[in-house]
Parts: sequence; C-alpha cells; structure tokens
Amino acid sequence: MDLDRRTVLSGLIASAIASGLPLRALAAEEVARVDDLIRRMTIEEKAGQMTCLADSFRPFNPPNPAAGIQDEKRLAEEIRKGRVGCLFNGIGVAGARKAQEIAVRQSRLGIPLLLAGDVIHGLKTIFPVPLGEASSFDPVLCQRTARAMAVEATAAGLHLTFAPMADVARDQRWGRVVEGAGEDVTLTALLTAARVRGFQGRDLRRDDSLLACPKHFTAYGAVAGGLEYGSVDISEETLRETHLPPFTAGFGAGALTTMAAFSEINGVPATADRTLLTDMLRDEMGFHGFVFSDYTADEELVAHGYAEDDRDAARLAVLAGVDMSMQSGLYIRYLPDLVKTGAVPMATIDVAVRRILYVKMAMGLFDNPWRSLDEAAEKSRIATPAHRALAREAGARSVVLLQNDGVLPLDPAGKQKIALIGPFTEDKANLYGPWAFYGDPGQGVDVATGLRGAMNDPDRLTIVAGCAIHQPIDGGIDAAVKAARAADVVILALGESQDMSGEAQSRTVIEIPAAQQALADAVAAVKKPTVVLLRHGRALALHDGVANANAVLATWFLGSEAGNAIADIVFGKVDPSGKLPVSFPWESGQEPFFYDRKSTGRPTVPNGSTEYKARYATTDNSARYPFGHGLSYTRFVLDNLKLSDSAMRWDQSVTVTARLKNIGKRRGSEIVQLYIHDRVASRTRPIRELKKMERVTLEPGESRTVRFTLARDDLRFVGQGNRWIAEPGVFDIWVGQSSQGGLHGRVTLYAPER
Ligand code: NOJ
Repeated sequence: MDLDRRTVLSGLIASAIASGLPLRALAAEEVARVDDLIRRMTIEEKAGQMTCLADSFRPFNPPNPAAGIQDEKRLAEEIRKGRVGCLFNGIGVAGARKAQEIAVRQSRLGIPLLLAGDVIHGLKTIFPVPLGEASSFDPVLCQRTARAMAVEATAAGLHLTFAPMADVARDQRWGRVVEGAGEDVTLTALLTAARVRGFQGRDLRRDDSLLACPKHFTAYGAVAGGLEYGSVDISEETLRETHLPPFTAGFGAGALTTMAAFSEINGVPATADRTLLTDMLRDEMGFHGFVFSDYTADEELVAHGYAEDDRDAARLAVLAGVDMSMQSGLYIRYLPDLVKTGAVPMATIDVAVRRILYVKMAMGLFDNPWRSLDEAAEKSRIATPAHRALAREAGARSVVLLQNDGVLPLDPAGKQKIALIGPFTEDKANLYGPWAFYGDPGQGVDVATGLRGAMNDPDRLTIVAGCAIHQPIDGGIDAAVKAARAADVVILALGESQDMSGEAQSRTVIEIPAAQQALADAVAAVKKPTVVLLRHGRALALHDGVANANAVLATWFLGSEAGNAIADIVFGKVDPSGKLPVSFPWESGQEPFFYDRKSTGRPTVPNGSTEYKARYATTDNSARYPFGHGLSYTRFVLDNLKLSDSAMRWDQSVTVTARLKNIGKRRGSEIVQLYIHDRVASRTRPIRELKKMERVTLEPGESRTVRFTLARDDLRFVGQGNRWIAEPGVFDIWVGQSSQGGLHGRVTLYAPER
C-alpha cells in the first residue's frame, strides 16, 4: 500500500473513530474497488472526477456569473466521456436521473456523479437565515433544522450541500455575515458542528444523508474592509485562534468536504496555498475528505496576479491541494497535459481522485447510484407540515428582543387599533433572505398575514406601506402619519431587502435605507407606542425614530413562517429568547466591531475621562446592543456565583455555578453565558471570551442552578510559536446574560507540579 493511500485510509478510519459518527470505515473490498478503478482510469477520466460543473440538466443555476458549460447536450457528452465527476446547483429527481443514467450506464467506467447544491437555509421549506438562527444560541435547534433541510434536499436529488458557512464574521459590512453564525468563535464552532451533524445524519449511506461542506477555508470573513472577494492580511495566531476552530469542529463532526476561500491570505490566494490546504488542513487538522475550489476560483488565480495563465492556475491549485475544480473546467482542460509534461506528478492526481472516490464510496453511491433519486420521496418529503412547524418554531427562536419598555407583548384579544407601517408589511419577496432560491416566495407567510391570523379581530389592523425599500412614495409618509394617529399602537416593518446581504453584497453603510429612516422619524413624531420589526442580514447601526422606539425586535430573514413566527412573539404566544450573535454598533464606522476585542493600552473606563483614550472622537466605541444581548418578556436575575475552587490545578477542572431566577410573571427562557478574561498573558488577550452557554426555561418564581465546568483547555490560546497554550495566572470569570455585565469571579490556574 503506498503512503498516500495509507494516509487517506487510516485517516478515514481515524476520523470515524474520533467522531463516533457518522463515517464508517471503508471495507477492504471498497478500498480495493477504488484501487482497481484508479488503475484503470485514464488521466482524462481522473481529471473528470476532479471536475464539478453547473447542472444544465436541471437548469437552475443560482446567482453565479455565467461561466463554463451552460448547455445540456454538451454537458451530457462530457459526462459520457467521463469528464465530469460532480454537478451542482440543479434540483429535481427527473433531471438528476437523466444525468446519473449517462454517468453510470454510458460512460466507460460507470462512476456515479455526485450531485451538489447550495442548500443554505432550506430547499422548499425555508428556515431562518443562518445568522438569524444563530440567535437561538442552540446547537440542538440548528441540528434539527439542518436535518429537515437534508431530508428535503436529498428528496430533490441532491447528495451534498455547500454548507454550513463556518466563517467567523466580524465586519458587518461584509454581506456574507448572514450565512454564518456571527462574530464569535465558540458559537460558530458549536453551530457548525451541529449543522454538519444535522445535514449528514447518523449514517452517510442513508438516502436522506446530505454531505456537508464547511466553507470557505479559511478566514474568508476576515477580508479587509468587509469587501467580498477581497484580501486577508492576518497574523497566524489570529488565523488559528479565531478562524480555524469552526472548521475543526465541522470536520470533527464528520464533514468530508470543504471549499477553499476565494480570498488571498497574506499574499497567497487560498486556492493556491499549499501551506493552508495541505500542511494545515490535512497534516495538522487531520482533514481526510476532499477540497472544492470555489466557483472559478482556480481561474481567478490569474486575476489575483498569482498564476501566469489558466494552465498555470490549474497547476498551482492542484499542487496546493484543491481536489475538485468548480465550474472553470480548468482541470479537465489542463491536468492531462500537466501530468504528461511532468509539471504535476500523477501521484498528486491519484491522491485527489482517491479522496473523491472514497467519499462517493462512503456515501454508498457505488452500490446505489440512485440513492436520493426517488420520485416518491420527492413528492412526500418536501415542504411537509412538520417542516413548516419547525420553521415556525425556529423563526420565533431566532427573534431577538433588543429593547422593550413594556409595550410588548400585545394582547391578541385586545381592543387596540394597530397600524402596521413600512415596506415589509405584505412583502413576500424579501421574507426568505439570500440563498433561498429554491423556495417559492408565494408560499411564505408575510408579516401582515401572520399578525392578522393571530388577532381575534383582524379588522383592527391597518396596513400602510409609507415608502418603498429604497425610495419614498408619493404621499406615503402622510398616509403613514395619518394611520399612526388613528392607531393605539404602531408596528414599523423596516430594514434591508434580501439582496442587500449575501454574496457580493458588501456595504459601506450598515443602516436602514434613508427613505425608511425618514418614514420612521415622521411616525415617531406622532408619539404613539411604537414597535419596530427589523428585517436584516447583518447587525445594523440604528438611529432616531428606529432606535428610540418603545420596542425593537431583530427579526432577520425568518423564512417560510416569518409572519407567524413574528406574530407568536409580538402577541406573546412565545417568549423571546434569542441573543445577538453579532454586536450592533452605534455607527457603521465602528466596523469591524466585535465584543472580544483587545483592551489597548488606553482603554476607556466607565465614568472615567475619555481624553486621549482608545475611542473615536465622534462615537463611543461600545455597542448599542452587545453580543449575547436579548431580552425576554419576563425578568431573570442571576445570583449566587460559586466556584468549586478558586484555584485550578493544571489537570483539574473547576465547577462554576450560579442561580438563575425568573422574577417576572411569565414563563421564559434565558441563555446563561460564561465569559473569561486572561489578565496577563504572553500575547494580549481579548477583554472577554465566550466559553460556555446554557439555555434554561423557568416558570414564574422558579429558580435553577446553572453549572459549568471550566478546565485548562477553556483557558488556552494560540501563543508564541503558533501553538495552543495555557499560561498559569489569574482569569476573570463572568456569568451573565450578555457579553456585558454579569456576576464576576476569579480563578487562578497553577502550573503543573514537578
Ligand atoms: C460562490 C460562493 O462563494 C460559494 O459559497 C457557493 O457555494 C458557490 N458560489 C456555488 O454556488
């Protein structure tokens, strides 16, 4: 057995053992089958397995620039010749069967196709955007929704989703913030692992198991200035400490594919970075699956100024460790000749092909190329009532109550007249959010429908647009003001359209469009109790009539059941329990802004002078709403913080407990959060870091002791020499309800005794 084969094989087994699920070790005969194929494959067929093309059989190729083959006949011919290994972004069993038929029955070796797609937050049943759902701070919920998405996607003829996005996103100008779990590394890692588990299920061979692809490897969220496709200049310590852990978590949960980022890191495009894709990803992190390029990213090495031409780009990408080229067609075009001329060793190609075939083998495609291609499943497993119910539950759990002076919840049986104002009242085109192109917007529940459905007397709801998303409308503000005057309560449905976030939607200003702000300010002047429902794919900088409303709810893009989920919260059927996965700054110009920043040598202190301190001259450098913030309709207090020991021995853990009490009048859920701060270290540490969290549901008057275990591993960071280390010393601990305030304690880590 050659070295590469041994590495891949032992790796598969090792990761199966390490994760416990869902990957089984390949049987000896499966390995032999792959070996036999590789022996018989021509270099062209090998390059074909390493090629992924847009699926023109099922002409549904979501927003990507038109490139490569876009024609069914040509694509069929390529498959027949064994020049394609994977199709992406088409759905539907009939089309998929047609393509698979050609691959299995008409190509020389009959290797089945892998069918991939971007199922980011739902296929037909649309769940909240990933950032919204991250507000639940709940891996169990994220796993459940990912499972439901997998059930639908596999019923529609897909084997793999290009999700979850594992990029930590600390700059709200970056449009792709919406696709991930926000600014925190621990939360992103937990939710990435949960989503991988949900997509893949317990057994990869099952018809409803959807392969996951944590992306974009790596530090894609760290693009300078939040500019999509931009450059990343980052210390290796930060790269390892902040951006790698979510990927480690995703691979630990069993993900067998990943995607290289479009961006360059420290001068080398990720797609051509062997240190990143081979030394770090495989040798250090132990990843044993295969790597996709992003869409035409190999070709883009030329525009980066890193490759001389397309041929050189293909060479650089494959040598770096990109196993599967997406859409450019560069591998099929150039790999055969690159191997012939000795520019790329055949052994490199064989390793890549082996990785791809092992994954196809692990998911049972060779034994059953028709898995996930079942017309009956397509009819019965998609858009089911159970999935709708889960979308509603997830929707309500994703809402964050940012502020509330008591106006909420409203009484559904109340006599009050409600004016629902804004461009998102009856809007269905912007309910789902970006990356939901398979869903039918007509099937979504808009805000007005949701609210009306919950009210005993729906006639008490008046609807006025007031303005369009970006433009004023003639007489709009006057009509809105009139409706506000006639109402007892105003609900403003404002925010971003769904095309304002997502891929290629970086923005310099993260505010509500001016026309809507003007509407909100005019309505605020009426001085009626006002509730703002924000629709958005990122944290926003809020002002005036919006920021000063009596209640403000972050509702993101909640998906198919948006209106019902919002009504559940507004009328108090469900108590809000979401927490912010991203900090809301005061101003756009504070970005990148995140809670786990450094102290600096001149920090501002509460009530202290701000002269010559690390702050903007024009804006306080705090958050309007900090990471982890989110209110409930009831009130929780925390007390009685206790540590089992104020000393932590090197190999022992400390138990941290605190009592949470519901002192309000309603049942509710709180997410208790534990943060640490390393006071003195050989590399300066963030002012706070989230380490643990727990969701607790309490009846009025009830209390419960929350228990966290803290060990040396939780105190580690990437220190000198780029290694994870823990240093003895004093650590602050807070147990609280957000990244600000909380009960404070201290623990000292002692060096090992000699
Ligand atoms: C480009 C995006 O960056 C990536 O996330 C996506 O999976 C591919 N396009 C395929 O649509």
